[in-house]
Amino acid sequence: MLETFDASRLKSAGPTTLSDVLEHGRIIYFPESPVPLPTPEDITFLREELPARLKRKNVSYYPEAQRLVGLASEGDIAERTHRILRGHSRRVTDFLSGAMPGFVKGWSVGTSSFRPLQERGRKLKAHASNELIHVDAGAYGATHGDRILRFFINLHPTEERRWATRGTFEELYHRYGETAGVAPAAGSDHPLRPGVPGRMYSSLLRGMSRLGLRMARVIDTSPYDRVMRRFHNFMKDTPEFQASREGYEEFGFPPFSAWMVLTDTVSHACLSGQYALVDTFLIRLSSCRHPTIAPYHLLQHPPAPPSRREAA
Ligand SMILES: [Fe+2]
Repeated sequence: MLETFDASRLKSAGPTTLSDVLEHGRIIYFPESPVPLPTPEDITFLREELPARLKRKNVSYYPEAQRLVGLASEGDIAERTHRILRGHSRRVTDFLSGAMPGFVKGWSVGTSSFRPLQERGRKLKAHASNELIHVDAGAYGATHGDRILRFFINLHPTEERRWATRGTFEELYHRYGETAGVAPAAGSDHPLRPGVPGRMYSSLLRGMSRLGLRMARVIDTSPYDRVMRRFHNFMKDTPEFQASREGYEEFGFPPFSAWMVLTDTVSHACLSGQYALVDTFLIRLSSCRHPTIAPYHLLQHPPAPPSRREAA
C-alpha cells in the first residue's frame, strides 16, 4: 500500500510517475518532505498556541476566499496563522504542479489545514471520526466524480502518525458494494450522470459561487456524491466492517515525513498522532490517466473482482 519515494527516486520520477501510483490506489510516502516546512519558530507557534484557541476541529486556510477558519482568537495570533498556512499552501501547490503537471490541470486548490489535536480517543460522532476506516466522500460540496487528493506532513517532534487501511475502493466495492446498497443490481448498470434538474441546480450553484457567494458550492450534490456518502457511512456505521482484518494494514509516518493519497480511493483511518498539516485538492476526473479504476466508473457497474491489486 505504501510506495516510498526518497529524494533520489523522486528526482528520477517522470511527469506521470506519481499520479499513476496514486490512481492505482497507493499511498506515496516521502521519508523526507519534498515541500519545505514552515520555520522551526512557526512550527512551535502552531503546536503551542493553536490547541487552546480552536473553534473547530482544525484550523483551515481557504486560498480562494483567502480566509482563515476555525480559530477563536483574532489579531496577531490569527494573522500569523494565516501567513503560515498561506505560505504552506503555496509551497505544496508549487510542488504538486511541478511533480504532476498533467494530473493537476484544471484542479481546485482547497484548504491548507493544521490539525492540532491528538487523534486517538477523541470520541467524535462516528461520521466525523477519523479513527474509523472509511473512504472520503465529498469535499467542498459535490465532486461529481472528481478525485480528492490530500497531502500530509507530520509536524509532531517525536510521535509518528499512525494510519490503518483495509485496501482500495475497488477491493472494498467488490467485497461490500452490494451489502452497502451502493451497487446496481446484477445485470444492470447505474448511470451516475445527474438528470436535467440536477445539472441545472449544480450549474446555478457554480454560478453563484463565481459571483462571490463562495459557500454556495458546498450545498451542491450529485448522484455520485450521494452514493459515495452512503458507502462512507456504511463503513463507519458497521462494526463488523471496522472489526474485520481482511486486507488490514497499519503504518506509521515519522515526525516531519510527508505522504499523499487519493482519499476517495484508499480507505484510511488515523489511529493516533497530533500536529499535522493537511492540504486538500480536487483533481478533475478528466485529468486521470486510469479513469476506469476511479470510483465514478466502478460504481456504475455491478462489483467485479478487482482488475489489479498491485500498483502500476
Ligand atoms: Fe478521511
